Amino acid sequence: MENKLTLWFMQFLIVGVSLNLKEQLVSAEPKFPCYFIFGDSLVDNGNNNNLNTTAKVNYLPYGIDFPQGPTGRFTNGRNIADFIGELLGFENYIPPFANSRNQDVFTGVNYGSGAAGILDESGYQVGAVISLNKQLSNHRVVISRIATLLGGEKVAKEYLNKCIYTVAMGNNDYLNNYYLPQYYSSSSLYTPDQFAARLIRQYSKQLRKLYKYGARKVAVFALGQLGCCPAEAALYGSSDSSCVESINNAAKIFNDKLKQLLDHLNYLLADANFIYTNTATDSYGNITVLSGSCCALSDIGQCLPEAVTCNNRDEYMFWDGFHPTEAGNLLSAKKAYNEMSPLFTNLIDVE
Ligand SMILES: *[C@@H]1O[C@H](CO)[C@@H](O)[C@H](O)[C@H]1NC(C)=O
Ligand SMILES: *[C@@H]1O[C@H](CO)[C@@H](O)[C@H](O)[C@H]1NC(C)=O
Repeated sequence: MENKLTLWFMQFLIVGVSLNLKEQLVSAEPKFPCYFIFGDSLVDNGNNNNLNTTAKVNYLPYGIDFPQGPTGRFTNGRNIADFIGELLGFENYIPPFANSRNQDVFTGVNYGSGAAGILDESGYQVGAVISLNKQLSNHRVVISRIATLLGGEKVAKEYLNKCIYTVAMGNNDYLNNYYLPQYYSSSSLYTPDQFAARLIRQYSKQLRKLYKYGARKVAVFALGQLGCCPAEAALYGSSDSSCVESINNAAKIFNDKLKQLLDHLNYLLADANFIYTNTATDSYGNITVLSGSCCALSDIGQCLPEAVTCNNRDEYMFWDGFHPTEAGNLLSAKKAYNEMSPLFTNLIDVE
């Protein structure tokens, strides 16, 4: 296994990957008028900054390779949502809900929150989080703004039908719940199969709500190889493997059920297009360091403030105990973008 890490955030075909891809990535016209982002720390771009939580990273060395410096992104540079936005042709990054202004809402909003999960309680041990339920409430607020600006709920709904949505949730229901038995009882109450079933029942309600709010083209991200994160390997790993198989197996159980759920929703809901998006690949481009993080870690697996980082950041897969480097995020985003391509057909003209 140690030779063949099939990590979630990798891409199968690496063509001309470099860290200065702005020109290459941006196409002339955005494929969609708007992009709404739901998720956890893989996409959070500042929503946790004003929360009472230790799951926030608006300090160096986070953002060391980002033009604006530390913004709350859980990586050294751009995160996966930033790259997907670029690939979709958006000129600017989709703003965080926490400081989105009225006119921003037309190109979309990023609701992502570090440590948040499908279950409201996931992540509570680090402080406040914006769970998926809360993110959907925030989306409701944005829809009201759009309705007010456009002149009604019906025309707002028509507009929201044309947007693209990504939902990346579930990682923290494992990392910040099931696999933290000192804080959560879930692993003594449920087998991995039962727990995944519980998550999927909740996720089903949430994705239907998103549909009810007008979403039609939705990429839903599978869980990655959570057991390969440096923090999990340190916590549960054995010396002869850099991955924790039991955690990866639990993630796989969830992913299998997620695939079935999305098939079911596509069958059930008119015009729904939920795409199962698995970003795992076994090609690594220039990345040579597949385990171990690029900075010194705090006890919750984040880079310590002002920590010295590795010099060759684009050769590292992991930035801190849980999150990919910008280089890792790029691989992941390109794989996700390829998997999302069924959503790009039959696009009506977007002005
Ligand atoms: C890998 O690194 C080399 C040397 O720095 C660079 O020229 C090349 O563009 C990089 N390739 C990818 C796929 O990132
Ligand atoms: C923030 O959270 C900590 C720990 O849960 C709590 O002790 C503290 O009172 C909270 N602070 C505020 C301002 O709510």
